[in-house]
Amino acid sequence: MTHPILQVTGLTRDFGRFTALSDVSLAVPQGGLAALIGPNGAGKTTFYNTVSGRFPPSAGRVFFDGDEITGMPAHRLARRGLLRSFQVTNIFPDLTVIENVLVPLVLHHHKGFAFWGKLKREKALFTEAEDLLDRFGILSEARLPAHALAYGDKRLVEMAIVLARRPRLVMLDEPTAGMTPEETDRMIGLIKDLADTTDTHFFITEHDMKVVFSVASYIFVLHQGQLLAQGTADEIRGNAEVKAAYLGGSLDA
Ligand SMILES: Nc1ncnc2c1ncn2[C@@H]1O[C@H](COP(=O)(O)OP(=O)(O)O)[C@@H](O)[C@H]1O
Ligand SMILES: [Mg+2]
Repeated sequence: MTHPILQVTGLTRDFGRFTALSDVSLAVPQGGLAALIGPNGAGKTTFYNTVSGRFPPSAGRVFFDGDEITGMPAHRLARRGLLRSFQVTNIFPDLTVIENVLVPLVLHHHKGFAFWGKLKREKALFTEAEDLLDRFGILSEARLPAHALAYGDKRLVEMAIVLARRPRLVMLDEPTAGMTPEETDRMIGLIKDLADTTDTHFFITEHDMKVVFSVASYIFVLHQGQLLAQGTADEIRGNAEVKAAYLGGSLDA
């Protein structure tokens, strides 16, 4: 039997007397790219934070690939293969782009490389790092210090650092925030490609409907801290309650 890659039951998060997330239950199926959408203030980031270990839920349970992970801190989740996107500030700005990617690769291969000679090990690591940068379209910037890159390219380095650890699930909270339309297209295309061609699952939050409808295989809609709807892009697009929640917003954009 295959478990949902991510499942939450009764997930609730209070901030004082305010309930930002209220009794949310959902299961993210294996495979593909899933998205959590909802108007500003719907509770998307709160959901993301309670699941990915930034802070624990006030009530409810979280399961990752069948195992309970409720309240587990981010570093333990990372070891299990659940990663959230890092902030750009977690890039080492004075290291080169390729060095930034080599750090997590060395960590990932720590045990597997024990019996290899030093030279062979270094060569394999560089090849893998270069392949990754090539896939992200930033190989030509490999030898530049990370701080010298444009904002959108820094976000790509951040993604490469995350993917270097071969995670089972990557949670991205508005991965295109602050990007130009071109950078947004590139980032979304990349996420879609990675979801289609690797074993890594992606679960993204996004406020831009157009972006989500174009790539997500399964969509969950939050509204005022509650799960309002779930389904395929076509099902969500035609859902009257969802339309009302967005008050004629960018749903048909
Ligand atoms: N740390 C916090 N303290 C108090 N209220 C918060 C906190 N974080 C979020 N909220 C509130 O919870 C609600 C949901 O916020 P958030 O999860 O950021 O929504 P979204 O990401 O969907 O825009 C908002 O009303 C927000 O003001
Ligand atoms: Mg948010």
